[in-house]
Amino acid sequence: MAPSSLICETESWKDLKAHVENNKKTHLRDLMSDSERCQSMVVEFDGILLDYSRQRATVETIEKLYILAEAAHLKEKIHRMFNGEHINSTENRSVLHVALRASRDAVINSVGKNVVPEVWKVLDKIQDFSERVRSGSWVGATGKFLKDVVAIGIGGSFLGPLFVHTALQTDPEAMVSSKGRQLRFLANVDPIDVARTITGLNPETTVVVVVSKTFTTAETMLNARTMREWISASLGPSAVAKHMVAVSTNLKLVEKFGIDPNNAFAFWDWVGGRYSVCSAVGVLPLSLQYGFAIVEKFLQGASSIDQHFYSTPFEKNIPVLLGLLSIWNVSFLGHPARAILPYSQALEKFAPHIQQVSMESNGKGVSIDGVALPFEAGEIDFGEPGTNGQHSFYQLIHQGRVIPCDFIGVLKSQQPVYLKGEVVSNHDELMSNFFAQPDALAYGKTPEQLLKENVPSHLIPHKTFSGNRPSLSLLLPQLSAYEIGQLLAIYEHRIAVEGFLWGINSFDQWGVELGKVLASQVREQLHAFRTKGEPVQGFNFSTATMLTRYLE
Ligand code: F6P
Repeated sequence: MAPSSLICETESWKDLKAHVENNKKTHLRDLMSDSERCQSMVVEFDGILLDYSRQRATVETIEKLYILAEAAHLKEKIHRMFNGEHINSTENRSVLHVALRASRDAVINSVGKNVVPEVWKVLDKIQDFSERVRSGSWVGATGKFLKDVVAIGIGGSFLGPLFVHTALQTDPEAMVSSKGRQLRFLANVDPIDVARTITGLNPETTVVVVVSKTFTTAETMLNARTMREWISASLGPSAVAKHMVAVSTNLKLVEKFGIDPNNAFAFWDWVGGRYSVCSAVGVLPLSLQYGFAIVEKFLQGASSIDQHFYSTPFEKNIPVLLGLLSIWNVSFLGHPARAILPYSQALEKFAPHIQQVSMESNGKGVSIDGVALPFEAGEIDFGEPGTNGQHSFYQLIHQGRVIPCDFIGVLKSQQPVYLKGEVVSNHDELMSNFFAQPDALAYGKTPEQLLKENVPSHLIPHKTFSGNRPSLSLLLPQLSAYEIGQLLAIYEHRIAVEGFLWGINSFDQWGVELGKVLASQVREQLHAFRTKGEPVQGFNFSTATMLTRYLE
């Protein structure tokens, strides 16, 4: 493919478009009866099992997707990412989140320089600091043990760490190491979030971590000033040095804010915000809460998938297969949404995190060369843990719109319960649903079956399930820090694969800028009215009316 050509102009794309027509004739019921096909659609790596046999794809479809991947130069693009080339071309940056979890002796270059030693320098600093806080050798301004952490940050500086924290909270090992400690997150500029965060916290025993790649994000900086005031008002301004630390790429602004640069933990412009959970963004707050050893296992899990992604042939490569199937569902079968359905309450913040990684990465309207896309890229991601989601939006997924689903199950519960007298354990009960739902979606229920069950004829249309609704299943052996890291990396790379196939830049986010600019105009107007009584001006009728009402 020539550098500026669009993927939809390739023969392989057109071939897949034509192939859709054949595919429409086959029902998943039939596809599922071909055991050879099903067997070929199960892949295993490092304890993780992927079964994609319930995708509306034949073996031929998958072959055609590999050809499309070749036309998109997928392999070269993956290698360019790992080699530190400036694949984020609009910001002229490498994309090297894989370096954040590389082993100490790995060599990963950005612009000819091995970045791994810098990564480990910061990791060592985090280990040292978190151990001092956790052991009580670093104490608060009044000499008290710092048992609570508030991490301030938004978007990528919040959602990833929140997901990992939520997932670790009930892991037995992590529970032991976090005993008596609390980690809270402050993201929204809404003062309600501040109120909720500080309720029950004592500034004397709290350390605040300000997390911001740019250290300019309006919400984070206002929340940081608010928390600085919370500390100063109670303990005096000098206490800030003991109670506030920062994570940023902008160490100058950290210092200007009043945080000692020695208490700042760096990361680099080659880490995208939404891909930053494995940098100090996630590692610092999580190490304070759980200890560095557990967080290191999380990094190792992610690293295991990085190596798998880099070197495994596409046929056995979990992130590649997932990415290709997403392209198939979105661009060829016309299903723009995807439901992420972990059958684990510990993964309740996984879908919100992936929502940001995916939608901020791939919600683009132009190719990497700036050419308007004649097809829609990106996916609408949402999700909830099962079984809660079953009692919420599954109705629509079963009988309404077709939404490809990711079912994520865990073999061994973090917190097993087996009640005397119950037929199965609580985890078995959960997993019964995990195994049943994909088949309900795939097979459905026909009017003939309903007739046999003596369903009254007027109810038959309402009780019919068309089936033929695609899903895939991922089974994890357990949910410890290691598997949480694996899961994160699988989805990060899947999203990259999608972007590489669509030919877009998955690593910039210009689409978030316009709203910020307009908000600053409104902020100026609010200030002018509040301080000088200046009337609302310069806005369209609708905004002016709403603003006037707000100010009055
Ligand atoms: O929402 C846009 C965004 O730039 C995200 O990409 C980023 O993760 C978030 O804002 C926060 O940015 P920062 O870490 O610079 O405060």
